[in-house]
Amino acid sequence: MKNSESVYQTKFSERTKCVPRSFIRDILQTATSTGVISFAGGLPNKEFFPVQEIKESVNRVLLNSPHTALQYSNSEGFLPLREILSSQYQTDGIEVSPKNILITSGSQQALDLLGKVFINTNDKIIIEEPSYLGAIQAFSMYRPEFLPVNLGNDGINRESFEFLVSVADIKFAYLIPNFQNPSGISYSAERRKEIAEIAKQNNLLLIEDDPYGKISFNNQRKKSIYSYAPQNTILLGTFSKTVVPGFRLGWIVAPDAIIEKLLVAKQAADLHTDIFAQHLVCDFLSNNKLEDHLIKIRRAYALQAQEMMKSIRKFFPAEVQYTNPEGGMFLWMTLPDGLSSMELFKKTMKKKVAFVPGTPFYINRNDSNSLRLNFSCSNTDEIQEGISRMAVCVNEMLEQAKALIS
Ligand SMILES: Cc1ncc(COP(=O)(O)O)c(C=O)c1O
Repeated sequence: MKNSESVYQTKFSERTKCVPRSFIRDILQTATSTGVISFAGGLPNKEFFPVQEIKESVNRVLLNSPHTALQYSNSEGFLPLREILSSQYQTDGIEVSPKNILITSGSQQALDLLGKVFINTNDKIIIEEPSYLGAIQAFSMYRPEFLPVNLGNDGINRESFEFLVSVADIKFAYLIPNFQNPSGISYSAERRKEIAEIAKQNNLLLIEDDPYGKISFNNQRKKSIYSYAPQNTILLGTFSKTVVPGFRLGWIVAPDAIIEKLLVAKQAADLHTDIFAQHLVCDFLSNNKLEDHLIKIRRAYALQAQEMMKSIRKFFPAEVQYTNPEGGMFLWMTLPDGLSSMELFKKTMKKKVAFVPGTPFYINRNDSNSLRLNFSCSNTDEIQEGISRMAVCVNEMLEQAKALIS
């Protein structure tokens, strides 16, 4: 075959043609170049990787169960690990049997498997606006129609949500109620109950994605939507933000009939999730107190978030709005009307500061005045310096906009 771009273009499936490259990955490539202060990534802080503890787990696993840890395994996932998850849920007041847990290769794979199992072309799915880019990308492969619903400070807009559910045949709604990526927003207890109630009354399926719930700065966790409507909710979890992301370990909690279908999809996708990593995390959790580890992460991220908000207050014009995250890794900023975050990105990159412009987190938006800032990977000096450099650019843009009007 001739090595020409156009020849390959005719071969690709329709499915892959409508999925954009991950904008964040492209940005991250620039943002990780030396000297750039980056608020663009979505990475947990590597300082808190429990390297020594994992070393000990590697030794123990290879000593005690080398053959099962290195052999092919079952598709459901390592039973002792699912039992630990089940007992963690029990501590949180939720009854989940290990048979209703499927271990996945990160919760990113969970999103893909759910897309595969549920979405037919043009099916309608509700997502928050803005929403997690990785979910938009994973679901886009199956060519749904996205119905975005605005996200306010206490969660997804109830009226719009209820209206859509009443007028359209919705396949599922995808929600991130705890310290959402990208906005940092958390649903109020009231909104969680309302959404669960709407789901129960309308036979609606919810996907509740919860990678950040345990990274609550004051350790006050609100009840999950799953706890109010377990038959209507598929709950996703991951060890990426609590242990390490490199193991690629996540999971899905779902009713029997759904687990059965997901299992087939999982078998077809990769037979099973890395069993050595599953043994390691299981051993790590059995021999260490996860809570002690989480306390360190929460304390550090809370300080970083506070530092970022303090710097924004100090350097940015008063017209700029931002969320006040009580957990997780992100803060969402809204520039005054008419200012483009993409334009701002071009300007701040010249000053070696990166962030993610808001546009890719929306469906069908060419430009937006919002942006995502990650605080988990920068120290105090970087936060102060990066935010002050950004503020110089915002002030410039604002002056120009005002001059144009007057
Ligand atoms: C909301 C959300 N869901 C899912 C993921 C994927 O996480 P992982 O595949 O590492 O478990 C992320 C990662 O940033 C996320 O923010």
